[in-house]
Amino acid sequence: MILEIVKYGDPILTRSAERVTEFDEKLHKLVDNMFETMYAAPGVGLAAPQVGLLKRLFVMDCSSGKDTKQKLVLINPVINMEEGEQIGEEGCLSFPGIYVQVKRPQRVVVRAQDINGSEFDLDILDLEARCVSHETDHLDGDLFIEYLSPLKRDLVKRKIKKRIKQGDW
Ligand code: NI
Repeated sequence: MILEIVKYGDPILTRSAERVTEFDEKLHKLVDNMFETMYAAPGVGLAAPQVGLLKRLFVMDCSSGKDTKQKLVLINPVINMEEGEQIGEEGCLSFPGIYVQVKRPQRVVVRAQDINGSEFDLDILDLEARCVSHETDHLDGDLFIEYLSPLKRDLVKRKIKKRIKQGDW
């Protein structure tokens, strides 16, 4: 089932999400629906707050469905190490049509739980590191435009306000 993606302006996107404690059938269903929603959008990452749920989990697939090994679900993720930096263009499904240059760590080491609650570690680079950093931010209510200079952030916000007025948001 494709879920509705919450867009910027909805206060849920700036709230902190709660830990997942139940690894039940409901969670399995949610994860399935989140993958379906992300692929349909299309996007490479989707966090639970973006579908209106304040839960600490996200799905990602930097191969856009081409490589099943890159299909990942991270539940209660904790970033334990960040190294280096990369500057690149970034988008967000809650900001349709908005792409900005964002600085992120080049390498990220993250510990998370899988769909059954088992812990695992990921040591990742480049686009995957960017994605984990962006999606983990969502769980703390942090959005990618916060990395912009105040001037650039203001430009993006004004662009969005205009689109809201035009009914294009
Ligand atoms: Ni996002």
